[in-house]
Amino acid sequence: MASASLISDTEPWKDLKEHVNEINKTHLRDLLNDVERSQSMMVENDGIILDYSRQRARLDTIDKLFKLAEAAQLRQKIDRMYNGEHINSTENRSVLHIALRAPRDKIFYSDGKNVVPDVWNVLDKIKDFSERVRNGSWVGATGKALKDVVAIGIGGSFLGPLFVHTALQTDPEAAECAKGRQLQFLANVDPVDVARNIKGLNPETTLVVVVSKTFTTAETMLNARTMREWISSALGPQAVAKHMVAVSTNLVLVEKFGIDPANAFAFWDWVGGRYSVCSAVGVLPLSLQYGFPTVEKFLNGASNIDTHFHSTPFEKNLPVLLGLLSVWNATFLGYPARAILPYSQSLEKFAPHIQQVSMESNGKGVSIDGIPLPFETGEIDFGEPGTNGQHSFYQLIHQGRVIPCDFIGAIRSQQPVYLKGEVVSNHDELMSNFFAQPDALAYGKTPEQLLLENVAAHLIPHKTFSGNRPSLSLLLPSLNAYNIGQLLAIYEHRIAVEGFIWGINSFDQWGVELGKVLASQVRKQLHVSRTKGEPVQGFNVSTTTLLTKYLEAEPGIPFDTTVLPKV
Ligand code: F6P
Repeated sequence: MASASLISDTEPWKDLKEHVNEINKTHLRDLLNDVERSQSMMVENDGIILDYSRQRARLDTIDKLFKLAEAAQLRQKIDRMYNGEHINSTENRSVLHIALRAPRDKIFYSDGKNVVPDVWNVLDKIKDFSERVRNGSWVGATGKALKDVVAIGIGGSFLGPLFVHTALQTDPEAAECAKGRQLQFLANVDPVDVARNIKGLNPETTLVVVVSKTFTTAETMLNARTMREWISSALGPQAVAKHMVAVSTNLVLVEKFGIDPANAFAFWDWVGGRYSVCSAVGVLPLSLQYGFPTVEKFLNGASNIDTHFHSTPFEKNLPVLLGLLSVWNATFLGYPARAILPYSQSLEKFAPHIQQVSMESNGKGVSIDGIPLPFETGEIDFGEPGTNGQHSFYQLIHQGRVIPCDFIGAIRSQQPVYLKGEVVSNHDELMSNFFAQPDALAYGKTPEQLLLENVAAHLIPHKTFSGNRPSLSLLLPSLNAYNIGQLLAIYEHRIAVEGFIWGINSFDQWGVELGKVLASQVRKQLHVSRTKGEPVQGFNVSTTTLLTKYLEAEPGIPFDTTVLPKV
């Protein structure tokens, strides 16, 4: 363990702590009156506008945050990431998801080797394979074209691709390319998820993509064996070669599983699972559905932000500003959560993806040098598309706890609708809410205003809105594949910035291991109890009682048969 000091020991940190008292004397109502302040809190890159004027911050707050960035050596840490240094020190790895979307002629080194040619070898292989599947020159065991794809994977091998798929589904260009095709995701080890995925599918026309960085994840491997059984019981074991392909860093285990290594798409240990959507993890299933050219636009969007993040001064740098403001909110102002509120149904799966990227990255308790932190890191991320969220949890956001909100909107709808005679188009109706909510949160409504409206005295406390609730707005030109790539990369880098400031390792995830170990102990117990009738032992009273009741109430499936869902 190094004797490195913590960021909380630095002067800029202490200064910001003091500064909270100053900010606590302000109200957003007044801060927003300062036109110069508001104007300088708007930043634009490639058509994306960030407005952070509704943050509980003055201009000197932002200066202080830049000083904190300097003390945390943010510039140097970003450079170290781009130079391929092993900044994921507990796993001794580079962190180079930026290389996954780099142009062919760009150079990114990991361990002295330029990795970009390897990236493009796999991308070219995906392009070729996905075109063959899509044009029907790669067919299934019975000669039929494979029009349905089931991608099996969990966590980072699922959430990012699901987000991008959901976002592209209604983009007219992407939708046109996906005509007649279907992409589904099987993540949960719950057999109900298998049942839901195979419902209506014909094994003859289905391609299964097993996506797992390690190829050891219990859920994914059981689901992969289940789908292998579904295919081979219908078409014979030889059909697996035509109907199953894999994405992994572990090509040895892919082959052991029975998938032809020629049909395996590699990625590398310098790609973290939750940062892997731009590797074959996302690119293969998405190319099968939408065609490689569409997915390439998505990669280009992410690459645009990679360049912006690396080369733009912090004052105009979207991920840097967002990251610093998140640290300000979470650590200094003490707001533990962050609501991600896209005013677009196509971004329905954005918050679930960011939950993993953010909470698995920054939910840490020690510094990168192993020193327990005297401050909280990470945020509790959650969200729903507007306006649905407004009719769900916004009550708490307006009058209950203070939760900094990210409002995300697009200027153009993917699917414009206007009904003759209506006041506004359907998209304008949606966006009226996008523009209104941040002000409702910031300004609130005072008892004096309510009195002027003749509100009954006993209702005034209930109808008062304290306001002063921070939010920021991100306005994108549209939500095409390119913009979706940009949005993804903005959040990925924002989360890295937060981790760099807090001085933690945002790229490991030791916290997910303990539960896996305990589950394997339970699995062993269930096996011996079901097959040999052995009593539950080695657990505490609580688990023993529950497990015993679970086993006694239901004998389970006899171990000499295979049972698949009946839907
Ligand atoms: O949940 C832990 C985790 O390791 C995630 O980080 C990862 O995205 C997920 O499991 C899936 O892992 P794999 O791609 O190796 O199956």
